[in-house]
Amino acid sequence: MKSKQILITGASSGLGLSHAIYLTYKGHEVIGTYKNRRDNEILKEIFLRDHTRYKYSNKKESMLKKGKIFISQDIQEKLDFLLDQITFIPLDVTKSQEISHFITNIDDTAIDVLINNAGIGYFGPVEESPIENWIHQFEVNVLGYVRMIQAILPQMRERRSGLIINTASMAGMATIPFQAGYSISKAGIIRLTDSLRTELKPFGIHVTTISPGDINTSFDAATITLHKAEAKYRSDEIASMIQEIPLQKSSPYYTRSLIVWTNIIQNLIISPPPMKVSKKITQVISTRNPKSFYTAGSLLQTTLLLFLQRIISREFFLWIIAKFYGV
Ligand SMILES: NC(=O)c1ccc[n+]([C@@H]2O[C@H](COP(=O)([O-])OP(=O)(O)OC[C@H]3O[C@@H](n4cnc5c(N)ncnc54)[C@H](OP(=O)(O)O)[C@@H]3O)[C@@H](O)[C@H]2O)c1
Repeated sequence: MKSKQILITGASSGLGLSHAIYLTYKGHEVIGTYKNRRDNEILKEIFLRDHTRYKYSNKKESMLKKGKIFISQDIQEKLDFLLDQITFIPLDVTKSQEISHFITNIDDTAIDVLINNAGIGYFGPVEESPIENWIHQFEVNVLGYVRMIQAILPQMRERRSGLIINTASMAGMATIPFQAGYSISKAGIIRLTDSLRTELKPFGIHVTTISPGDINTSFDAATITLHKAEAKYRSDEIASMIQEIPLQKSSPYYTRSLIVWTNIIQNLIISPPPMKVSKKITQVISTRNPKSFYTAGSLLQTTLLLFLQRIISREFFLWIIAKFYGV
């Protein structure tokens, strides 16, 4: 496949970092944006952690056993080289001025693919979640995507080619309890994509979503760091992460929230690795006419979930989701 120039937002950890490394490995030119600069040694550490297989030796006590690493020997050996090949540029997707500055300082006429990936996830009951959290949630997860699309579209429209991949989530199809704001933002991204597909059809620009199920990244740890700026995350510290639930013990929602929070944190670490999504994205990039919606993740959380949603009543479906999270 011809090498493409690919712009990925939020490439400093998790899925974005994995896409940047894998697409570079596949011969593409990648510009990865970041909010917090991390040096290559830290990026390597994050990438290897996110691709380590974990198993519970005692789930109740959150005791984990480390297994092998999911990525090929070849990628592991070339990791330093691959990271050196990626152009990392700072960019906060909530800041329109930073985006304009960024666009004028890169050769935007060469961007073939935009992967909107930067995202955050607040946790908490609707009643108690401060409005500032809701605003920040939508600023990053929805308006951040819109700002990037508005910035990149003029040159894609002029060239009559281009691909925009919006990262949604299976949470956009099945709401996660106590993550209403996050789920709404991801459902919104699916709708945004559908709307854009029709708008951009005459201009030869393709738009699609990728909706991952749970993926083993530091995503919910990032949720915690929003509340505890200096918090460090290590996979073997899962028990202490659970204690860091961003909710007061006096909350009437505390007990049920803690059950859901514990399930989210405990499930994430044994979920499929980001590379699973990166491989799907690489396939989508090489497809002539991408579909509007792709999933990636465990079979249960993607294909089976969508199938169930089609054949059972909405109430029964919501009951199953609640049971999955333990409430
Ligand atoms: N992990 C999952 O289970 C999962 C499942 C479905 C969908 N997703 C989606 O996948 C995407 C990536 O998540 P992840 O799991 O890889 O999480 P992650 O490891 O926390 O990565 C999130 C990335 O977004 C960046 N970011 C956050 N706020 C930003 C801002 N204001 N401006 C620019 N960049 C910002 C972060 O930068 P800093 O680190 O520098 O703050 C980081 O690079 C998100 O959209 C998420 O909703 C994740």
